[in-house]
Order: sequence, then C-alpha cells, then structure tokens
Amino acid sequence: MAVTILKGNIVSAPECGKLDITEYGYLIAEDGIIIGVFSQLPERYAAVPVEDWGDCLILQSFADLHMHAPQYAMMGMGMDLPLLDWLNEYAFPTEARFTDADYARTVYRHLAHELVANGTTRVSLFSSLHREATLILMEELEKAGIVGYVGKVNMDRNGASNLQETTEESQRETLRWLEECQDFPHIKPILTPRFTPSCTNELMAFLGKLAQERHLPVQSHLSENHREIEWVRELHPECKQYWETYAEYGLWNDRTIMAHCVHSDARERKAMKDAGVTVAHCANSNNAICSGTAPVRVMLNEGLKVALGSDVAGGCSIHMFDAVADAIKASKDRRIMDNWRTDFLTVAEGWYLGTTAGANFFGAGAGFAKGDALHAMVLDDSALVPSTRPLTVQERFERCVYVRQPDAIRAVWSEGRKVYNAKNR
Ligand code: GUN
Ligand code: FE
Repeated sequence: MAVTILKGNIVSAPECGKLDITEYGYLIAEDGIIIGVFSQLPERYAAVPVEDWGDCLILQSFADLHMHAPQYAMMGMGMDLPLLDWLNEYAFPTEARFTDADYARTVYRHLAHELVANGTTRVSLFSSLHREATLILMEELEKAGIVGYVGKVNMDRNGASNLQETTEESQRETLRWLEECQDFPHIKPILTPRFTPSCTNELMAFLGKLAQERHLPVQSHLSENHREIEWVRELHPECKQYWETYAEYGLWNDRTIMAHCVHSDARERKAMKDAGVTVAHCANSNNAICSGTAPVRVMLNEGLKVALGSDVAGGCSIHMFDAVADAIKASKDRRIMDNWRTDFLTVAEGWYLGTTAGANFFGAGAGFAKGDALHAMVLDDSALVPSTRPLTVQERFERCVYVRQPDAIRAVWSEGRKVYNAKNR
C-alpha cells in the first residue's frame, strides 16, 4: 500500500463559514484515499517517509464548476459587449475554430496544464459543438490528471453560419460522442444544451430523455442577462420563467448545474432549491460582460447549493483564487446595492464555495474528508514582503485569497495522485 504523508499548515473548509486549521499537521492518505488530518503523526506511520513542506500552507484544491474550454483562446479580450452581442462578436467565431483538431489539441493541452498548475483539479467544462475537439479536450484533461465533466455543446438554432448544427446532427453527434468517450476513467460526459435560445424544443426533449435514460448530469446557463431573459420569454410564451424551459424537458434536477442565475428571483431560486440544482456563481464574468451582480449571499441564506465557476472567457481569469475573491467582492457589491441589508461572504465562506461546495457535485465530502480521494495543493507564500510581525496561519490564508502569488503553488494532488510539482515547470 502506498502511503502519502504531507506535513505543513493544513487549512480546509468543512462547512460554509468554518475553517479547520492544523499547524504543522499531517495530512495522510493511503492509496490516494484520505485517512485524516492529525496534529501528531500516528504511531503506525512512524516508519513512513514524510513529505515535509515546512511552513507552507496545505490547502484543498479547487473545483471550477463552469468554464468554456475553447474560449480559453480568447481569455482577457473582448470585454466590451454585453452577453448576446459578445457571443456573436467574439465567442462564436472563437469556438468555430475548433473544427481544427490540431488547434484544439494545442489550446486544450495548454489549458489542462494551466488548470493543474493553478490548483484546479475538478472541473465541469463546456467544450464547443465539435465532437472530435471535445474528445481531445477530455483526453488532455485526463492526461493532466484532472477529474470531472466535459460537455459537447448542443446548439441547433441562433448560432452562426459556421457554428450551428441541425437538430439531427446534434443528436447524432451527441450519441456518437457518448459512445466514444466511455473509456476515460476520470473525465465523464455531461449533457450541455448551450442555453435555451440555442436549442429547439425537439433537441431539448431529446437531451432530457437521454439524461434520464443514461443518468447523465446536465449543465447550462440561466438568467444571466436581462436581454437574454426577455428573449427566452419570447421563445417560450408557455413558460412563466426561464428555468421552466429546462424543467419541462427533464433537464432540471440534483445533477444539474446552472451557471450565473444573476437575475433569478425568489420563485426561480425556490425552484432551484426544491430540485437540488447547483448554481455556478461566476462573479468575474458577471462583472466583465456587465450582466449584473448575483445575490450570492441570499442564495446561500435560502439554502441553495452554490459553487463557483471561472466562466472563462466571459470571465478573464482561470485562477480559482480570483473566483473566490471575486465572489466575496460581488457579495460586498450586493451589500452596497441592497442598502446594507445583506451580509457579505467571509473569506472562509468564499473558500468553501470554491472547494468543498464544488467538490460536493462530484460526490466528495467536506474539507479533507476521510474516505475521499486526495485533492490538495501546497502553497508557498514565502516570497511575499515580510510582515512587521509574525502572521497567523489564518492571516496567511486570507492573504492568499486576495493577493496573487505567481508560482506559489509548489505541488498539487488530484484523485490521490501527485499531478504537479513546481520544479517540473
Ligand atoms: N450563454 C450562452 N453561451 C454562453 C457563453 O458562452 N458564455 C456565457 N457567459 N454565457 C453564455
Ligand atoms: Fe458560461
């Protein structure tokens, strides 16, 4: 049996708002499965070599519950248009390039390495509508050691001349993709109707049936932008609200991720809570393309499942440290907008959303839970300007959320395997 013993300052978020901190503690896994966090090395491991990370922080790695892999190629550009114009002007032309398998390989290999090197080990990603490029994305993520879901995007209306499928093509390619991706051990398929304006009723019905028959998870977008919501109302006069356009086709349950939900009102939020839908809150993107400021604190108070997404490239950062900081910032913006009636997120709460809450979607428990596969990273913050006094671990943890520290991540474990070592960079 292979035993991993990591020694350092271990910080995890077992509950929303609570941190577990063990200074100079031991995080132990056997065959990649977490045994526990200990302040003293248990006697039975006395003869096992310890990976001693000195004064470093040992943290949970991140789960990014919403991003668009092909849009990684345009990250940090084109933030000057609102959603629907932004899609037509920037996102669709970028995604159309992924008919080219070699180009897809280059972008996706880079993306997979960048995710791991920045401590993201669980993902739920949108690919493009291209089956071949989607398989390449799955392969590159698998090779990099990442776990989670990838979806071939379905879009049979309102796309572009070079980025749209017929209904029949979309169905056929989806079935073929599901056949061809069966052998990936860690990267699994998720059904991905892009959003209601992109999918005919016939396609939605097909996907809903497929989700039920094959027990597949589903991801899409919901109530991100006012014009989008208005458009959905026009397309679906039979539905009172946007979410019902998914629910009526069986795409609305506890294995569903809905990105954004910026403008979801109390009724739509209740529908999410009742169905167990997970909200992927993407604060960076919501600000960058001027969608709005999601009421993340209210969602949590109401008991919704909320996790975080980078939403690259509506969002301009792949770093989940930024997603955590941006979620906290969005909650403070809401506080200001709401005349101080709502609380902001604490650092511990933001961290929980970026780690444990996202990991829950993949079936993991809380924090470094016994019995879970090891997902962790080592962060060396020693390159920062020395403080005038010794800092507590909690202070250093808070600082790592707010202050970007290039190359501070020294090592990353995903699904029990060491997948990144800084010296290999
Ligand atoms: N809604 C439909 N497609 C997209 C997309 O690519 N990005 C974002 N942010 N919203 C969408
Ligand atoms: Fe998105």
